[in-house]
Amino acid sequence: MAVGVFDSGLGGLTVLDAAARRLPDVPFVYFGDNKHAPYGVRDAEDIYQLTTAAVERLWDEGCDLVVLACNTASAAALRRMQETWVPRDKRVLGVFVPLIEALTEREWGDNSPPREVAVQHVALFATPATVRSRAFQRELAFRAIGVDVEAQACGGLVDAIEEGDMILAEALVRSHVDALKRKMPDPHAAILGCTHYPLMFDIFQDALGPEVKLFSQADLVPESLADYLQRHPAMLGKGTVSKFLTTGDPAKVSRHATGFLKRQITFEAA
Ligand code: SIN
Repeated sequence: MAVGVFDSGLGGLTVLDAAARRLPDVPFVYFGDNKHAPYGVRDAEDIYQLTTAAVERLWDEGCDLVVLACNTASAAALRRMQETWVPRDKRVLGVFVPLIEALTEREWGDNSPPREVAVQHVALFATPATVRSRAFQRELAFRAIGVDVEAQACGGLVDAIEEGDMILAEALVRSHVDALKRKMPDPHAAILGCTHYPLMFDIFQDALGPEVKLFSQADLVPESLADYLQRHPAMLGKGTVSKFLTTGDPAKVSRHATGFLKRQITFEAA
């Protein structure tokens, strides 16, 4: 049994890489739905159908625990999956809750009533589908009161990063940060609400200014996964081999992934 990590494309490798460093003995199976990426421009039903198909494929690989590294899938499909579709012996976890727990300075799984928190102006950078879903605001409202969230849909950024066009990606980050600052001039904190954006962490920080605290799932999800596995050891992987699956062209995806992580990654056809 391994832990499954799902993403619409390559961005989830930022989470996988950090999780594999935090949990070196746990085998992972990564599933990138590159053929259908990006999800951020799709409608909610489409995202639900694609995500459930991918999760079923990871269950076939023996991954009883699957992490949706893809924020768009976490935002648009996870709640419906958990409420109506995931069987009792499997778990599917998303990425918003760890981010929000860190933002609101809560311990893992703290279900106490919402309370006032230090950060009151929060900028959310995410895909159009994630922004449309308002899932971040919904999850935040369970934990905090009095927080003003301004969301910026970062159109084009995932494509630029997937294509490795970092000049375009930097220009897009700067223009999306400018657009956000016109709506909220003084954010206290900013959420990088897409798997791809941690790759642009320094540019976001530079454009936002050093006083803005940046929250990135690549830093937070591995810790929360380690915590979860400690509480649910039956979900701990027992295999030894990690594996990378893609619905896209394995040779092309392997090349891009190797460039992304600066180490050899070999994908197989899903
Ligand atoms: C996308 O597929 O559009 C980006 C992945 C994400 O939202 O994390």
